[in-house]
Amino acid sequence: MRKKVIAGNWKMNMTNKEAISMLIELKEIVKNIKNVTIIVGGPFTALSDAVKIVEKSNISIAAENVYPKDAGAFTGEISPIMLKEIGVKYVILGHSERREYFMESNSFINEKIKAVLAHGMIPILCIGERLEDREAGRTNDINRNQLIEGLEGLTKEQAEKIIIAYEPIWAIGTGKTATPEIAQETHRAIRDVLKEIFGEEISEKMTIQYGGSMNAENAEKLLSQKDIDGGLIGGASLKAESFSKIIFAGE
Ligand code: PGA
Repeated sequence: MRKKVIAGNWKMNMTNKEAISMLIELKEIVKNIKNVTIIVGGPFTALSDAVKIVEKSNISIAAENVYPKDAGAFTGEISPIMLKEIGVKYVILGHSERREYFMESNSFINEKIKAVLAHGMIPILCIGERLEDREAGRTNDINRNQLIEGLEGLTKEQAEKIIIAYEPIWAIGTGKTATPEIAQETHRAIRDVLKEIFGEEISEKMTIQYGGSMNAENAEKLLSQKDIDGGLIGGASLKAESFSKIIFAGE
């Protein structure tokens, strides 16, 4: 039985002050949650204080990106060592916005995954197809390619720790959610690819989150699907009230 993992992705929202007050509120609301792993991903400037606020609570903090080198002349970038030192536990990687606006390739994302694992943090690898891919029947091919190239060279032990977030691009921030049936079917296909790469035992242990307009209203139905092990939530993670409702739906 896989434990549900609910993660927020604040994207480029939340100043440090806003992050602190949201987390203080969230921490109180979800303090009795036991059966859900709760993660909040925020911008770099909020991470250090965020980690301190959630210390000794059931919430962990994620970064939304990283550069895959330990240190050096990479002006403007943040290394895994810096994240690890302040207490970040997860790193969201390969989000479709990073693939699209910052031209991130599967091989670059693969380097980041390896760097994050090497420093003892857990990558959340985002994959997903565009609307035109879905309409042309290419969804499973796109996801398969992102998985094969993104997870290239990982051992079974490493794979077991990784979280996959399936986020159909047409559902992100659009209010359009994949129906629970469509999402389940795609999650099943994703797990089959994981099985092909890492074997059945590992694939059955791996967490596959759904992302794309998940909210308090649709969360329960999505989360009740056999292969949907949690959610990666953008818009609805910005307020403690709406985010906690999704967490309760997973409990
Ligand atoms: P959304 O974003 O929940 O606002 O659709 C999800 C994501 O991009 O991770």
